[in-house]
Amino acid sequence: MDSKKIIETEKKCIMQTYSRSSIVIDHGKGCYVFGKDGKKYLDLFGGLATCSIGHGSKKVAEAVCNQAKKLVNVTNLYYTEPQVILAKKLVKLSGLGKCFFCNSGAEANEAAIKLARKHTGKTDIISTKHAFHGRTLGALSATWKEKFKKKFEPTLPGFTFVDYNNVEATENAITEKTAAVIVEPIQGESGIIIPDEDYLVKLKKFCEEKNILLILDEVQTGTARTGKFFAYLHYNIKPDIVTLAKGLANGVPIGVTIAKEGIDFDKSDHASTFGGNNLSCAAANATIDFILEKNLMENAAKQGNYFMKKLNELKNKHDMVKEVRGKGLMIGVELNAECKDIANKCLEKGLLVNCVSEKVLRFLPPLIITKKELDIALNILEGVLG
Ligand SMILES: Cc1ncc(COP(=O)(O)O)c(C=O)c1O
Repeated sequence: MDSKKIIETEKKCIMQTYSRSSIVIDHGKGCYVFGKDGKKYLDLFGGLATCSIGHGSKKVAEAVCNQAKKLVNVTNLYYTEPQVILAKKLVKLSGLGKCFFCNSGAEANEAAIKLARKHTGKTDIISTKHAFHGRTLGALSATWKEKFKKKFEPTLPGFTFVDYNNVEATENAITEKTAAVIVEPIQGESGIIIPDEDYLVKLKKFCEEKNILLILDEVQTGTARTGKFFAYLHYNIKPDIVTLAKGLANGVPIGVTIAKEGIDFDKSDHASTFGGNNLSCAAANATIDFILEKNLMENAAKQGNYFMKKLNELKNKHDMVKEVRGKGLMIGVELNAECKDIANKCLEKGLLVNCVSEKVLRFLPPLIITKKELDIALNILEGVLG
């Protein structure tokens, strides 16, 4: 099919839940993707943080191919090696106890909510204003935006929302029914909102004192994106439960809920047919190995700092730029105007960036990105802002 036909057919055959840009992406290599028409795009959106080690990764392709030829899925009613190898890696990296595997970020948060209720025997969860935790009904209940929930109510009872970056507000919201607090170390979907350096430390201390579980949603911040494998490692704390998805298998669907020793499901409490399947686990194992071998945590921190420094220089030159914020390669540029047109103009010039929260350009590039590639992006962005 040519691009026109693909777009027409999509409109007829696929539910129109996404506002897609009018290009058809065909393949990718490193930090670039290529349209069906052959046009090359520098991808600073990174498949919404899923493409951690680059498009067309040989390492992941080989792992997936070899695994596909051997065994894709036999269900969780048997033991399989790739899943166990992955769990061992994640337990070591997280410093936590045990993993539950699923297929997405929302599912990982569903498991976290169930786990918190089961472990504490309490029902209520404190979330934060502007939080995003996914679109399935449980995860949606912890998500802030009314627009996402209105048509699907009632969501789960027992969810309250407090100001982000405000431990006192959390303190005021607890009741005898509170099981857990769920929070993103950086709020991604609401426009890269970075809390104070001591927010998570204080929140952890408070949760410990009150015997409430701390669930960190690292679906977007995890897998080395902020310069450490988990963002909480910047603060020398450990959550009771952490969730990961997006970049863990370089774009192959996977989600995981990791909990502290002693916080656990019993048999039949939870399950997922595809969760922890051999193919996803092989891809995740290859992705993690590559991240560690190439020290992409360090690259994320280094390139992120460079990019933010340069973006701040752009801010000083262009009134349209209001604020630059980020950590590692999770960066937002808040504009004084809506960013949709800017993102569209960047696209025309061969740069993929995401516009989130109406006014924030969001950058989540592959963690392998180089200074040279960032300079190309800066050039395009500067041209467009000009
Ligand atoms: C912090 C956070 N949690 C959960 C999700 C939901 O993940 P998924 O789309 O894989 O269900 C997202 C997706 O953007 C996210 O950013």
